[in-house]
Amino acid sequence: MMMLRYTLACLLTFSFGLTSSSARPAPYALRISCGARKNVITPPTYALWYKDIAYTGGVPANATAPSYITPPLKTLRYFPISEGPNNCYNIVRVPKGHYSVRIFFGVIDQPNFDKEPLFDISIEGTQVYSLKSGWSGHDDQVFAEALIFLMGGTSTICFHSTGHGDPAILSIEILQVDDKAYNFGKGWGQGVILRTATRLSCGTGKPRFGEDYHADHWGGDRFWNPMRSFGKGADSPRSTENTIKQTSVSPNFYPEGLYQSALVSTDDQPDLTYSMDVEPNRNYSVWMHFAEIDATVTAEGKRVFDVVINGDTFFEDVDVIKMSGGRYTALVLNATVTVSGRTLTIVLQPKGSGHAIINAIEVFEIITAEFKTLRDEVGALQKMKKALGLPSRFGWNGDPCVPSQHPWSGADCQLDKNTSRWVIDGLDLDNQGLKGFLPNDISKLKHLQSINLSQNSIHGGIPASLGSITKLEVLDLSYNSFNGSIPETIGELTSLLILNLNGNSLSGKVPAAVGGMLLHRTRFNFTDNAGLCGIPGLPACGPHLSSGAKIGIAFGVSIAFLLLVLCAMIWWKRRQNILRAQHIAARGAPYAKKRTNVSHDIQMTRHGNNNNHGQARTAVENGPSLLS
Ligand SMILES: *[C@@H]1O[C@H](CO)[C@@H](O)[C@H](O)[C@H]1NC(C)=O
Ligand SMILES: *[C@@H]1O[C@H](CO)[C@@H](O)[C@H](O)[C@H]1NC(C)=O
Ligand SMILES: *[C@@H]1O[C@H](CO)[C@@H](O)[C@H](O)[C@H]1NC(C)=O
Ligand SMILES: *[C@@H]1O[C@H](CO)[C@@H](O)[C@H](O)[C@H]1NC(C)=O
Ligand SMILES: *[C@@H]1O[C@H](CO)[C@@H](O)[C@H](O)[C@H]1NC(C)=O
Ligand SMILES: *[C@@H]1O[C@H](CO)[C@@H](O)[C@H](O)[C@H]1NC(C)=O
Ligand SMILES: *[C@@H]1O[C@H](CO)[C@@H](O)[C@H](O)[C@H]1NC(C)=O
Repeated sequence: MMMLRYTLACLLTFSFGLTSSSARPAPYALRISCGARKNVITPPTYALWYKDIAYTGGVPANATAPSYITPPLKTLRYFPISEGPNNCYNIVRVPKGHYSVRIFFGVIDQPNFDKEPLFDISIEGTQVYSLKSGWSGHDDQVFAEALIFLMGGTSTICFHSTGHGDPAILSIEILQVDDKAYNFGKGWGQGVILRTATRLSCGTGKPRFGEDYHADHWGGDRFWNPMRSFGKGADSPRSTENTIKQTSVSPNFYPEGLYQSALVSTDDQPDLTYSMDVEPNRNYSVWMHFAEIDATVTAEGKRVFDVVINGDTFFEDVDVIKMSGGRYTALVLNATVTVSGRTLTIVLQPKGSGHAIINAIEVFEIITAEFKTLRDEVGALQKMKKALGLPSRFGWNGDPCVPSQHPWSGADCQLDKNTSRWVIDGLDLDNQGLKGFLPNDISKLKHLQSINLSQNSIHGGIPASLGSITKLEVLDLSYNSFNGSIPETIGELTSLLILNLNGNSLSGKVPAAVGGMLLHRTRFNFTDNAGLCGIPGLPACGPHLSSGAKIGIAFGVSIAFLLLVLCAMIWWKRRQNILRAQHIAARGAPYAKKRTNVSHDIQMTRHGNNNNHGQARTAVENGPSLLS
């Protein structure tokens, strides 16, 4: 049940042979139908969706389709909060490349479930999307999509609870796109993720995917939301069946159909204005598509306009025919915009008496990828998760430190600027009901400055490897069930300021190096243990004895005890005899006096003889005569 991470290893044993119209090999494409028990093939494209049922974690359930554009899949997978706030798919052996990753959200087909869970999504440790309430009512909000460079190997997609229902996922698509797709110029490349904010096809009423346009697969099966009008009376649609030149070209492979419809401004409203809500203080990459498809505009200079975004002119005197090289020819312009407010407004302002035209608009949020956590440290934390039996509510899945909105609880992170990697500098797992043991791997968390595991039920020894965590300042293992002795290596922790080992079952001599360290500056508490000794405040340690010697001593002590008992009995008996003898003597009986002398001899022997055996034998030999 702890296995919340999926390994979709088997998926690569299938091939992804999609037929492509171009001469290039087919791009890598992986589609997962979450919660499906069998692979699914969906009409009308015969796309193959792989099942994920062999993997534990999350709960499969039946799905309803919130939107017309939701893929026709019948199942989903949801993640109850009891399984922790971070749940991930780890998809192995994804080849290095540039990808469009798309996730459709699920709505559980059961009346008592929240119809619209809200949660966060991260890809490779970077949060790319936060669901907005009301998403199930908008076609372009029922999925999240991002363009990202994957480095090859395992790719991780995580779903993070935000306290608004259980994250529910219908599907995951990982579709390779051209390495240069959406190159917006300065700042573009690895480390930058483009999250699709919107994709509009203007002047049409039909939602379309790349597949519907028979688009090249290197385009990643984009979804184009139809935009019939930017506002009543503000524009009028145009469409054509004519062939459009310069479409489906590398690296973006825009389909021809996208340019066969457009919106054109009117005499009433010469400016063509499109406004959308955005997150403030983010950067956006805006891509605008043009083709002169209006039969009345036949030459250069007939339609000229400026492109103004949030008040700044990005392109002046745009003449589509001139810039694209002719009528019915595609033109793509892109602009990078820093938005401080909550709206992004694109205005096409005609020069002179003409009207503006636009065929399609794409807006991406530019997200800087997060740095990841040092791989060794992630591995060490995972070993600790297992060894300590960490409950799943901790949500130790994905990357410990990122997305920064959802770090693992109990692990403190610090960015190492030298290596651009996050490292763990603190572990706060005090009072969490942990019952396991502390593994040696803890020493791989080299940057730890503080460890607090106080008030758990951790058993076993204190790992000697702790001594190699040189920066450690606080080590609080108090109130657990640690046993054995304090490792010598603890004395190597020269930065240590606090060492709390009280309330455990530790025993043996406190190593001299530790004692020396304590004298200097470390505050410590060793009380309430099974038998620690050897430093001021603790008992002195007894001589060091081998186990053979211990057995010898134990044997001797029991014999001595027996002897003592016998002596006591002899003394008591003798006293009885004396009393009796005195009593008899009082009536004239010499015999009793002799007996008394014998007993006296034995007592003498006992005092004078150091040989235990002799002493014992004497007692035994004389005993019966006395007891008879
Ligand atoms: C899902 O629906 C099928 C029938 O379509 C039904 O047999 C199955 O029990 C349902 N599963 C759940 C978890 O409700
Ligand atoms: C996008 O714009 C930038 C700068 O304005 C330019 O360098 C880049 O080539 C453009 N990308 C495409 C694919 O046209
Ligand atoms: C937006 O871009 C500017 C300039 O490239 C950069 O300084 C700034 O950090 C970016 N903002 C965000 C939120 O990424
Ligand atoms: C980074 O490097 C500097 C010197 O190169 C060093 O002093 C510092 O300790 C390093 N920081 C970390 C976190 O390793
Ligand atoms: C460790 O955690 C315990 C329990 O929460 C707390 O009482 C103690 O002060 C902490 N130790 C240190 C050194 O902060
Ligand atoms: C510590 O306790 C474990 C059981 O929890 C036991 O197996 C082990 O032998 C003990 N070690 C020492 C040194 O007493
Ligand atoms: C040390 O621990 C004991 C309990 O194990 C506690 O009673 C005592 O107050 C602690 N001493 C200090 C100085 O914190």
